[in-house]
Amino acid sequence: MSWKLKAAKVQLAPALAANSIALGFIKNPDLTFSFVGPTQLIAEIQNHFEVELVDELTFFNPTGKAGELFEIPVSAVDSKTDRIFLVGLGDSLTPAMRIAATSIARKVKGKNTTVYSACAITDRDVKAHAIALTLGAYLWNLKTGDPAGVPTFLVATNNKENINVAISTAKAITRARDLVHTPSNIKTPAWMATKAQEFAQGTGLKVKVLAGKDLVEFGGLCAVGNSSPKPGPRFIQISYAPAKEKKVNNALPHVVLVGKGITFDTGGINLKRPYDLMIPMKSDMSGAAAILATLTALEELQPNVRVTALMMCAENAISGTAQRPSDVIKHYGGTTVEVADTDAEGRLVLADGLAYADKNLDPDYLVDIATLTGAATVGLGKQYAAMYTRDEKLAREFESAGITSGDRVWHMPLVDDYKDGLVSEVADFNHISRKIKYSAGSVMAALFLEHFAGNRRWVHLDIAGPARSETDSGENPKGGTGFGVRLLTEWITNL
Ligand code: BES
Ligand code: MN
Ligand code: ZN
Repeated sequence: MSWKLKAAKVQLAPALAANSIALGFIKNPDLTFSFVGPTQLIAEIQNHFEVELVDELTFFNPTGKAGELFEIPVSAVDSKTDRIFLVGLGDSLTPAMRIAATSIARKVKGKNTTVYSACAITDRDVKAHAIALTLGAYLWNLKTGDPAGVPTFLVATNNKENINVAISTAKAITRARDLVHTPSNIKTPAWMATKAQEFAQGTGLKVKVLAGKDLVEFGGLCAVGNSSPKPGPRFIQISYAPAKEKKVNNALPHVVLVGKGITFDTGGINLKRPYDLMIPMKSDMSGAAAILATLTALEELQPNVRVTALMMCAENAISGTAQRPSDVIKHYGGTTVEVADTDAEGRLVLADGLAYADKNLDPDYLVDIATLTGAATVGLGKQYAAMYTRDEKLAREFESAGITSGDRVWHMPLVDDYKDGLVSEVADFNHISRKIKYSAGSVMAALFLEHFAGNRRWVHLDIAGPARSETDSGENPKGGTGFGVRLLTEWITNL
């Protein structure tokens, strides 16, 4: 873990024990400055270090935008503190609390140092700020030599429980990121199964892994995954149920999450080109990583629901055993599908997972999450996931969980008029639209998947955009973002 996070009392003593103190300011309409955090504590800090922080700000004359940061050197005989970070809080709403946190975090990323942050007041802001501190400090690499230092964030609050929730969530996001960052020569489908077992060890989570002959009915997963010589595809099922109240478990709502776990996507015989498009494809298992990580958070938070995660793991390789365009495969449950483009592999593995869940798991809610289409990114960019559902109530729930958690989603239409694009002459369906191949690609994928979700309350999340960041900025490192963990954790804990 590249960070530590703890709750600290809103008092002078813990602040003075830290190497630096972070305070948040806003620029008022009359161009004066004020602080947003705990008033009395901020006054005590100023007295202790004999500084006038508003004077300092007046001198720097910042714009006040969120994340702007000034470093004030301070010293006092009885304190370890040698810096006060003054950080802009913009409009001081929750998203600004996150941005401010990432500025602070980037200052201390990779350093063995302690920061006491007193920027946020409400529980909601404290939680968002605390999680964002860890996200901004995230580091991952396989460099040998001296390991990087680990900053400790002390978040000022008298609600320790709220920080415990933030810690569980932040740990899960970090885990998801680590999985995504791991390169694909290490990250085989079998490795993903080992990780699931490792995370579940010593907890109440149960893991079941299917491989080889046990996957015969999973025609989509096998067609994609058998392109890779070894190890082959894996179906990884992780289940969560609350430790207490075991008796009423069967009456609890059951959520089934299905995640795309393509450990590398070459495109297969429809090879990705130009090859720059292939480089980021180690992150094509971000959906599977998000649901696995979410379950580890839920295990700590113990919400009163049952959750089953199905990680559909396979490598989409190019080889002598790779599927061919024009192949017809039989999905779990028997539906036949004509494969027109081996690079549209994600929906093939998800279809098996959805059909399996519908047939065997009796889900009250069925949610799939996948880096499915470049088209979703064309439409929405990298800050919103494309969400598909016919259930308006669920759509509202996900939208609101997205805004609260920071993992935002946009409700997209399942356009019935486009369904004839999936008609095949030789199978039940074509998995892509050949008529309008380059139009509504994300919608077409959703319409294909819908068939396999039966009559369940179903949500499809296309996270091709937000799962990965091309730059080290804001909450995200360059690479895997862990998108979906906060969203799913927020939605599930509110059910
Ligand atoms: N994994 C890709 C989608 C993707 C693209 C994710 C860019 C993240 C960034 C997916 O398997 C894919 O190749 N989709 C094709 C579908 C097409 C062949 C119908 C796409 O989006 O081009
Ligand atoms: Mn692909
Ligand atoms: Zn893919």
